[in-house]
Amino acid sequence: MVDHETTLGPVRLRTPLVAASGTVGSVTDFAKVGAMEAYGAAVAKSVSAEPWAGRPAPRMAPTELGMLNGIGIQNPGIDAWSDEVAKKLAKLDVPVWGSAVGHRADEFVRSAKGLQGAGVAAIEINLSCPNLDDGSMFALDADAAGQVVAEVSGAVGVPIGAKLSPNAEDIVTIASAVGEAGADWVVLTNTAWGFGIDLDTRKPLITGGVGGYSGPAMKPLALRCVWEVAQALPQLPILGCGGVVRGTDAIEYLMAGASAVAIGTVHFAEPRAARRILDEIDLWCEANGVLGVSELVGTAKPW
Ligand SMILES: Cc1cc2nc3c(=O)[nH]c(=O)nc-3n(C[C@H](O)[C@H](O)[C@H](O)COP(=O)(O)O)c2cc1C
Repeated sequence: MVDHETTLGPVRLRTPLVAASGTVGSVTDFAKVGAMEAYGAAVAKSVSAEPWAGRPAPRMAPTELGMLNGIGIQNPGIDAWSDEVAKKLAKLDVPVWGSAVGHRADEFVRSAKGLQGAGVAAIEINLSCPNLDDGSMFALDADAAGQVVAEVSGAVGVPIGAKLSPNAEDIVTIASAVGEAGADWVVLTNTAWGFGIDLDTRKPLITGGVGGYSGPAMKPLALRCVWEVAQALPQLPILGCGGVVRGTDAIEYLMAGASAVAIGTVHFAEPRAARRILDEIDLWCEANGVLGVSELVGTAKPW
């Protein structure tokens, strides 16, 4: 029996798998169909201080080796979200994390306080969102990202992770800034920018034009971020995320330096994927004499 327990900063996880934000709704409905026992935690979709309408359809499209989405983080705002979800969270047999998003630091703080009040076990700060002041993504700017994390970490008592973008020019600088600002771990990564055209309409596949690309082709992009941050900042815990479909994908992330691994797009084709992926991790560990998944963390060696 392989020991699944792993530690992500101050958080102990019963398995190394985390359900990625935006791919399991608010977790409460997904829990009726998902293999919840296979997750260490599940992250609800991102919530802002006020309601966000999101973009018009089409806002998700399949592409080669993955999908493109530009949903615009549609959500009902933290107050309505809490009213609907808070009372259901305690009944779930998986720790639920919230995900806070905003266009200004104070909006992140309002969302994070509401999520904490709703009883989430931890909070991801989704920094892949445009800053109202200059329109660029927080996750591309070390100062702006650090400021958001510092304000949120000063306002809530639950552990926090900062979710970064593979589009950052220098991922180590951003990771270092959010770590110094108080993030307990970094999530590497959110989707990568992508684009596609419908040949019949000659329009972009989604109304937002450029969107977030996710799925199997993301793995080398996000793994590169994990590897670089793990090498440069060995004390900063990492939740790997991007393109995980098989147990061996998750093992690659662990070896590269992630302490746990989030799975997202695979849920759309296979809601119970976490069970299969965890079984595949077990098979690999048993075949390779590995007694516990935490033994694998950071064991990849440079040439
Ligand atoms: C349809 C969709 C919606 C998403 N919504 C969110 C979100 O609300 N917040 C967030 O932090 N990430 C969001 N993500 C990004 C995922 O959590 C994950 O970081 C990304 O998809 C890469 O992992 P994957 O290749 O396993 O899907 C979304 C992804 C998809 C496909």
